[in-house]
Amino acid sequence: MTTLRTFALLAATVLARVEAIEAADWDAAQSSAEAALAKMSQQDKVNIVTGVGWDKGPCVGNTPAISSINYPQLCLQDGPLGIRFGTGSTAFTPGVQAASTWDTELIRQRGEFLGEEAKGCGIHVMLGPVAGALGKIPHGGRNWEGFGVDPYLAGIAMAETIEGMQSAGVQACAKHYIVNEQELNRETISSDVDDRTMHELYLWPFADAVHANVASVMCSYNKINGSWACENDHAQNGLLKKELGFKGFVVSDWNAQHTTDGSANNGMDMTMPGSDYNGNNVLWGPQLTSAINSNRVSGERVDDMAKRILTTWYLLGQDAGYPAINIDASVQGNHKENVRAVARDGIVLLKNDEGVLPLQKPGKIALVGSAAVVNPDGANACVDKGCNTGALGMGWGSGSVNYPYFVSPHDALKARAEADGATVSLHSSDQTNGVAGVASDADVAIVVITANSGEGYITVEDHAGDRNHLDPWHNGNELVKAVAAANKNTIVVVHSTGPIILEEILATEGVKAIVWAGLPSQENGNALVDILYGLASPSGKLVYSIAKSAEDYGTSVVSGGEDDFSEGLFVDYRHFDNADIEPRYEFGFGLSYTEFTYEELSVTSTVTAGPASGETIPGGAADLWETVATVTASVTNSGEVEGAEVAQLYITLPADTPSTPPKQLRGFAKLKLEPGASGVATFNLRRRDLSYWDASAAQWVVPAGEFTVSVGASSRDVRLTGSLTA
Ligand SMILES: *[C@@H]1O[C@H](CO)[C@@H](O)[C@H](O)[C@H]1NC(C)=O
Repeated sequence: MTTLRTFALLAATVLARVEAIEAADWDAAQSSAEAALAKMSQQDKVNIVTGVGWDKGPCVGNTPAISSINYPQLCLQDGPLGIRFGTGSTAFTPGVQAASTWDTELIRQRGEFLGEEAKGCGIHVMLGPVAGALGKIPHGGRNWEGFGVDPYLAGIAMAETIEGMQSAGVQACAKHYIVNEQELNRETISSDVDDRTMHELYLWPFADAVHANVASVMCSYNKINGSWACENDHAQNGLLKKELGFKGFVVSDWNAQHTTDGSANNGMDMTMPGSDYNGNNVLWGPQLTSAINSNRVSGERVDDMAKRILTTWYLLGQDAGYPAINIDASVQGNHKENVRAVARDGIVLLKNDEGVLPLQKPGKIALVGSAAVVNPDGANACVDKGCNTGALGMGWGSGSVNYPYFVSPHDALKARAEADGATVSLHSSDQTNGVAGVASDADVAIVVITANSGEGYITVEDHAGDRNHLDPWHNGNELVKAVAAANKNTIVVVHSTGPIILEEILATEGVKAIVWAGLPSQENGNALVDILYGLASPSGKLVYSIAKSAEDYGTSVVSGGEDDFSEGLFVDYRHFDNADIEPRYEFGFGLSYTEFTYEELSVTSTVTAGPASGETIPGGAADLWETVATVTASVTNSGEVEGAEVAQLYITLPADTPSTPPKQLRGFAKLKLEPGASGVATFNLRRRDLSYWDASAAQWVVPAGEFTVSVGASSRDVRLTGSLTA
């Protein structure tokens, strides 16, 4: 015991972990910030809130050092899955893959490792994680950077990631705030969202981020109700700082600031990069000084900006012993193990006819598709991943990073086949010519197809960020048909940033399995082989619905200047359920190599109807975060092999609640079970999980009446139901 303790103490010292942040820590950091503020000149204050300009420092965002208080040149760096432009760092899996695991331990570890690498590079503020876009539009270019389309799941993933990152000592940045749902016209479009939809969908995961003590929030490019997100008083001062009690700072997205006074007076605290990309148009700096001097912006407001920025620096302990900035530092450690685990456990098995998977040591394997091999020009050949050539591991844009190495499907499959004395014949193109020759005499044919998307400053194969359609790229349907025509044991592997329409593939005879491999980053092939060969049973579940047609989603990229969010709360499964449209594969769906049975639902509740109350803590009214009901269910692995099940809990609010989605995710638990073993899935429901936003009262309210509790294997595969009453 003593030895164990000593070791734990030693490990804690070496990693210099920041303990879980509490209210007293914010108070202490604010006191330190006030003391420092007292020593700063007005010029110092203007400097600490104004970036030095694009490409004028070592990081994507920098503010100047303030010598009077020993404050360093602050380094802000992309992004949500690793260190952008770094050469010694890990390419972690995108957020969407992490969410697809539904494994809070893996998600948290991913956050810790991200934070460790950022700190190792001397980065003070790491620009992630992402909860906006939430993903209401399946074509949305940047959906893959976030954690899927459900706010509850995204919120849990935000909190785990932020706590993980910040425990390593780096400041996290929750972005993009808010309702930034598409790339087309992203810098001009106005997202006009009603108050209830704002609270129940888009603000929800940001509330989790604030509750997890996130240090900073990035305001987005778009307008909200006609005013820029970074100049929107209601969004920044009202919702974020007042209602959610956010004590950190709001940093602009890069070039998202439009006026000197409007941004300052409406809640923005730091401008980045500080000028436009040509070094012109500096809206703070000297212009902020004149605004203060002519009383258009108050001195108190600028003090508040500086205090918020200093507070989080102290909060994370960055004022002592923080490493020097070196974006190229060698910081990977053993972090690739997390990449492989997330890549693997985020894989969703959609179809598996006649038990074609897992593979039983086939002697002859055909592998088809340009996405089966690394980009012939190199895994990092395209700047910011702006191409769809070769195997896909992440989307493109500022949320991408360099791969330190890349294992393609072919690399991993060949290694595995060699160990078995098997052969792999490769057709590494998307042309159907020549497919038959490779596929026809193989025991099994594996065809890899893709769909890609990214940030709008890069256009890839005619897709300007958002996808133009939801079909596979490179004529993937035709490629699959050619393979399946030649081989009756065809396995389709999909690497994609979001849903694609699978109807043609499903209608193709010979397609026995579909493996939704998502975005596995640098461990692409290894994760796939782990699943194909049954080294692990698939345990990922979809974090968006796969529809039968693109129209079924009811949302698509909006052209023109305004998105009125008329679908309201009814996005993805909330819409499919409400409109009674059958998806092909529903939100939360995923097969396994084993089977799970559910029994013994138990519900205990102390919840009372009525509005939320209590003081405002980070995340909103205190009692919103209290557990008011607990649901348990017993889950048994009733199949033959080890596996993991993501048990999900959906809540149906009382029938007379104003227009509400039929079911909403409000709990999940991933249980790893040996064959025959049982475990208990425990779902703790907080007051917020049983509330809706009453827009007229401007409050979260638990409605009176009977709530239905549905527990099961997906949003439609309900195995047990119960109820509770408020
Ligand atoms: C936008 O306008 C709607 C409708 O008036 C309102 O409910 C909402 O609170 C406004 N949102 C913001 C961020 O101003």
